[in-house]
Amino acid sequence: MKEYETIKIVQEDDGVTWLIFNRPEKRNAMSPQLHADCNDALKHLATDPRTRVLIVTGAGEAFCAGQDLKLFFRENDSNPAARFEAGENSHSWRWQRLSKFPKATIAMVNGFCFGGAFTQLIACDLAIAADEATFGLSEINWGIIPGGVVSWNVVNALNTRDAMFYAITGDTFDGKQAAKMGLVNYSVPKDQLREETLKLARRLAQKNPATLRYTKDGIRAVRGMTEAQAQDYLAAKSDALRFVDQEGGREESLKQFLDEKVFRPGLENYDRKRAAERKKK
Ligand code: COA
Repeated sequence: MKEYETIKIVQEDDGVTWLIFNRPEKRNAMSPQLHADCNDALKHLATDPRTRVLIVTGAGEAFCAGQDLKLFFRENDSNPAARFEAGENSHSWRWQRLSKFPKATIAMVNGFCFGGAFTQLIACDLAIAADEATFGLSEINWGIIPGGVVSWNVVNALNTRDAMFYAITGDTFDGKQAAKMGLVNYSVPKDQLREETLKLARRLAQKNPATLRYTKDGIRAVRGMTEAQAQDYLAAKSDALRFVDQEGGREESLKQFLDEKVFRPGLENYDRKRAAERKKK
């Protein structure tokens, strides 16, 4: 895996890859270089066979302190070309590449999470926070609106009262409150965060990858559809999945449940090793 200036990519042996924002001295604020690095890394990781689940987190005390006020905003104000490129990279990796990433993604919010950082937080399929993490839509405090796609994401993820409250007060909230509002799946004490996140990632890494990908794409896609569109889309995706699923999960699990009686689909995943062995024969 490539080395980057502002991020670290760490790969476990079991399909879990970490993308770690690595500007701890700047609370992992997003500089134009960080956007370029993340954009490049996600392009490679999307098809990297060692990556089955991606965890996005930050080094040191912060998850991410939002856009870099100096390098992304002030220093680019008089350089439209650099501003354009940084803006494109910023949107590309945080929304286009991350929300459509073909494997499961988890945001592990280890500390400060401000402003623009909500975009990658919400782009991830799942999120786990430290109880002690600090979240805030701080834009109001320094004379800008939650731009990019932050406001759009926030109203999709939170109820309107909470979205409005935190956007116009700029008040902070902790991981427990983020979990209560559904902004993250759950929060745990900081000293258990890494272990709990890895536990979840490892469970996801065991799932049939084609089915997981089509499921996550479906959950995102149907939100903006009518019932008729959703039914049509899901029927087409179900057919497509049978074509792309290399391990034939549907047939295999029917066999394991109905004929061999070795698993209960309501309670556990079908035995993928058994499926692989059968394929080899
Ligand atoms: N942009 C640029 N630099 C940032 C930054 C940001 N968003 N957030 C932190 N930094 C820098 C600080 O300027 C400081 O740099 P320095 O050491 O060269 O002076 C360094 O990171 C540490 O920040 P500091 O404020 O001293 O750390 P802290 O732990 O006391 O506070 C924060 C952390 C995150 C609460 C505080 O830095 C902050 O409010 N940052 C801005 C958050 C924000 O509003 N982001 C929204 C942007 S869309």
